[in-house]
Amino acid sequence: MSAKKNILWYQNAVFYELYVRAFRDSNGDGHGDLVGVIEKLDYLKELGVDCIWLLPLYPSPLKDDGYDISDYYGIHSDYGTVEDFDRLITEAHKRGLRVITDLVVNHTSDQHPWFVESRASRQSPKRDWYVWSDTDQLYQDARIIFLDTEDSNWAYDEKTQQYYWHRFYSSQPDLNYDNPEVAQAMLGVMRYWLDKGIDGFRVDAVPYLFERDGTDCENLPETHAYVKEMRRFVEANWPEAIMLAEANQWPEDVRAYFGDGDEFHMAFHFPVMPRIFISLHLENAQVIRDVMARTPAIPSGCQWCTFLRNHDELTLEMVTPEEREMMWSVYAPDDRMRLNLGIRRRLAPLLGNDLRKIVLANNIMFSLQGAPVLYYGDEIGMGDNIDLPDRNGVRTPMQWREGANVGFSEAPADKLYAPVIDSPEYGHKRVNVAEQRVNAGSLFNRMKELIALRKRYQSFFSGSQEFIEVAHPEVLAVVHCCDKGELAIFHNLSGSDVSFSLHHPPMQGAALTEVSCKDGRLSNPGQPTSAQVELDPYGSLWLLRDNSL
Ligand code: GLC
Repeated sequence: MSAKKNILWYQNAVFYELYVRAFRDSNGDGHGDLVGVIEKLDYLKELGVDCIWLLPLYPSPLKDDGYDISDYYGIHSDYGTVEDFDRLITEAHKRGLRVITDLVVNHTSDQHPWFVESRASRQSPKRDWYVWSDTDQLYQDARIIFLDTEDSNWAYDEKTQQYYWHRFYSSQPDLNYDNPEVAQAMLGVMRYWLDKGIDGFRVDAVPYLFERDGTDCENLPETHAYVKEMRRFVEANWPEAIMLAEANQWPEDVRAYFGDGDEFHMAFHFPVMPRIFISLHLENAQVIRDVMARTPAIPSGCQWCTFLRNHDELTLEMVTPEEREMMWSVYAPDDRMRLNLGIRRRLAPLLGNDLRKIVLANNIMFSLQGAPVLYYGDEIGMGDNIDLPDRNGVRTPMQWREGANVGFSEAPADKLYAPVIDSPEYGHKRVNVAEQRVNAGSLFNRMKELIALRKRYQSFFSGSQEFIEVAHPEVLAVVHCCDKGELAIFHNLSGSDVSFSLHHPPMQGAALTEVSCKDGRLSNPGQPTSAQVELDPYGSLWLLRDNSL
């Protein structure tokens, strides 16, 4: 994977978000580890993903599952050693898999030596590495993110009698990026991991790096200036490495994080995600078209990342209050399913464990421009455990096979970091990799096909993307156009058959090929002017007009 050739490798890559603690425990201590991930690289290769995103691996008191870092230069002992990490990178690269890791820039753990020193006294040389104030009245316009646990972004430090600033848990003090030493220290952290050969970072909680009174302390110009500095640093030294932004914002605001192609390479598209669920519920594609219509173009060399679920709650920040209420009542009828402004459930339970809807939701994601990001376990339709606190219910052990500890660990069951899912519907007997691998119609195999399909036609996704309206509101139709031709993708969001004639001029009268026709088809293909698209309930159809034919 050398030199400039693969410089845009990420633009059509399929990403796999992997929580190491949950994936595979190689040493029987009940916690997944890096050696366990190495054991399972062939599985990821078989699935067909291109790049693994590893959640934070650093030493941490785990008050926020590793997003509270106490040492940026190490590996948490549960996960193994730095040598294991090096081996993982080598083994992944050997198989043509890329690896990006989480970089938590906004805050540290309160147990990080920087903060310990900072809070020791007002005269500490590290005092100014964090944001301290005599009052808790500054920055009142900044919203609280962890609404269910925090009532202020300030926490009082008894000993030095000042408040420190934190956008997340109070055990996660925010670093002070107005201090050039902090800005420099974070570049040092980046250098360390990039020198190990990683392919980039998913950069956590980007919008909140700076604070300015009278603003909401999000997306400030100072933040963009620092991101540009990070990008210059990465580009100059590791030209193939990428920076992916976690910025849970409206598309217009996220657009700014691409700069002129000189900030992030990639950013998650947060607002389209809940709209896929809304459209499925309403059996109406309009909300997806609307949010895509307000999504600005991005500089070449940049790319969106699309996703359906991740390790956090399904956030409902980027929807209207009415849409949020609707999402809650439809998808989180039990209070325990709600967290902050979101829903702490996995994909399969959200969609009633209906294989057709699960495949459709993925197919929609795969038919939009942007690199799809899968969340571990969702490729086999794992369930969740709402009895576990916080977001832990969607972070349970990966279900490899039927039987003791689902093939995740050889430890006694009571030593596992979290119980395996054992409900009749989602337990190991019904949901496991081994069984789905040999079952042709399984979700795993449908996902494999979808990934392969997307990769086969990836050049179309770098061209233009147009949403066309057909006479049926329950149909989402998107056309990708490139010099090779046109790829039109149709989805039926409803539980009834739908049939309509194809009125998209470039495709009329042309020879069309069905490139994926599991649950949709073209009738009258011999008479293209009256070609009819027929979609089964929740079915999709990919149609190609190939210029070379
Ligand atoms: C991001 C992470 C989330 C974490 C938070 C604070 O939003 O995705 O898991 O709790 O940042 O680091």
